[in-house]
Amino acid sequence: MTEFEPVIDVHLIPDDAKRSLQRDARVGLTSEPKWLQPKWFYDARGSDLFEQITRLPEYYPTRAESSILQAHAADIARRTGAHALVELGSGSSEKTRLLLDALAQSGSLNQYVPVDVSETALREAVAAIHEDYPRLAIHGVVADFTQHLDRVPGQRPRLIAFLGGTIGNFLPDERAVFLGQLRDTVLAGEWVLLGTDLVKDPDVLVAAYDDSAGVTADFNRNILAVLNRELDADFDLENYEHVAIWDCENEWIEMRLRAVAAAKVTLSELALDVVMQSGEQIRTEISAKFRQEGVEAELAKAGFDMDSWWTDPKGRFALSLARAR
Ligand code: SAH
Ligand code: TRP
Repeated sequence: MTEFEPVIDVHLIPDDAKRSLQRDARVGLTSEPKWLQPKWFYDARGSDLFEQITRLPEYYPTRAESSILQAHAADIARRTGAHALVELGSGSSEKTRLLLDALAQSGSLNQYVPVDVSETALREAVAAIHEDYPRLAIHGVVADFTQHLDRVPGQRPRLIAFLGGTIGNFLPDERAVFLGQLRDTVLAGEWVLLGTDLVKDPDVLVAAYDDSAGVTADFNRNILAVLNRELDADFDLENYEHVAIWDCENEWIEMRLRAVAAAKVTLSELALDVVMQSGEQIRTEISAKFRQEGVEAELAKAGFDMDSWWTDPKGRFALSLARAR
């Protein structure tokens, strides 16, 4: 059995991660308007809160994407014949089971390679998948998919899954860079499976990012708890309100934290004082929503040909299967 014991590579060295958080916090909190990089949401508590988000009645993307996988995982397995399934931003790897089942059934799959910046989430997911797929080789990678794509292993041909609409958390220019880097790390003929949330009624969109139970608000504020712990900062979380707005020009949801009262925040480790005016907002995340033509064009520009486009029956969410040219 030992040959099937999972392997986990860690490319995020604590010192590097710390330096990069320091840089991001300094740049973002001294900018006008202020902003923070979303990858810092995902400490152990943040990953846990995100899992809770996926089960909220208002947060339809996870269920919609699951239903597409349910309907088309067998098509995906047949069309790709992938030997390795690589998953970027794999989180809990829950939906992935639908792909693993279909790829295993079609007989092509040898290896699963989850990649996530959250070491706790990755270790838990690897253990859970190993438990239920004891004969599958698992090679987990703790890494930043904006920096370490070239270090991702996997037996070719690979299917690279990027689910959950996480691609929407990049700004458009970052998205183009990411897709270009992804194309540079795969060989012609390899596959990408991309999950994208779609443009729809703004009320439905806003509710998905501002749920009535306040879980998304806690998730959003958690980024301040990360700064408090990691950079010895003194954000008073209760002074920050969760804001989610639909930007109809850019077609993205924008998440912010609004200071209810003016405050001076000290980030001791950076020797930095930040003044928050009353009502001032920090942008923490965007979640872009897509249309078929746009996804196809962006993939094509990066060097991927669209092979299949599937949506859930209500047309809320899409999965694109594309092939490197
Ligand atoms: N794929 C899962 C989780 C989506 S949430 C789903 O569809 O439900 C986004 C995931 O991406 C989180 O697990 C987070 O830890 C990870 N992530 C965010 N930024 C990342 C980065 N720069 N590099 C690697 N993983 C990242
Ligand atoms: N990738 C997810 C999305 O854009 C991440 C997410 C869901 C999220 N809810 C959030 C990020 C709330 C920040 C705040 O849907």
